[in-house]
Amino acid sequence: MSYSAESVKTPLTVLDLLAMKQAGEKIACLTAYDASFSFLIDQAGIEVILVGDSLGMVIQGKTTTIPVSMDEMVYHTRCVVQARQRALVIADLPFLSYTTMESALKHSAKLMQSAGAQMVKLEGARIEIIKGLVDFGVPVCAHLGLLPQSINQLGRYKVQGRNLKEAESIIADALRIEQAGASLVVLECVPAELAATISQQLKIPVIGIGAGVSCDGQVLVLYDMLGISRGKRPRFSKDFMQTADDIPAAIQQFKQEVKQALFPAEEHGY
Ligand code: KIV
Repeated sequence: MSYSAESVKTPLTVLDLLAMKQAGEKIACLTAYDASFSFLIDQAGIEVILVGDSLGMVIQGKTTTIPVSMDEMVYHTRCVVQARQRALVIADLPFLSYTTMESALKHSAKLMQSAGAQMVKLEGARIEIIKGLVDFGVPVCAHLGLLPQSINQLGRYKVQGRNLKEAESIIADALRIEQAGASLVVLECVPAELAATISQQLKIPVIGIGAGVSCDGQVLVLYDMLGISRGKRPRFSKDFMQTADDIPAAIQQFKQEVKQALFPAEEHGY
């Protein structure tokens, strides 16, 4: 058996993302939930595809991510993995699927073994869970700032880390997450200045959504950036179809604007 067969096309890995951060190259990430969009995103050269539990809203028409089940995450992740060649695929661990080490391992196994994801994402500074997953070879992306799975406690989707105490707590969490062995952090809806500090302090890449242009990369919900989500588009997103002739061109435009640090502009930030 050879580990270096030149002819076998392998997807990007956590090491490639780390090298991009070190080289100062921005990382582009979009969500996808099916094979057709996965193919288009992959063809555009986007480095990371996130099978987010945002599928609860944009695919299932629910108002939150809470009802999304493990079986649904596995199904959509499998569809996405099937069609990509190069992009690294991250899959969300859904609400309450990682409350114990045992359940986090069992559900990560489903996303990675059965569905083919290369990394799992979980919300909050779940330090012991992150350590345990990493210990067993599961690459982890942690999600800080606005935590959509906590919506029933938050009351509404709002910017996090606006005051000093909250900002310090998010910075401390990010550092602990890195220490615990996470490979990536998604930072959602925080002031741009706070996100810049965190991106600077961490060695691992920080992918922002509503977190300003200084993050190491950007992620958007695909349906928001194609202008086809129901309801009002979030301030931090941008409808790339407004200036594109077709979907591949819109995805390409997103990638170019991320690479050149043109997106997000100040109007998209807090
Ligand atoms: O579920 C999702 O799509 C996400 C992004 C908003 C980062 O977590």
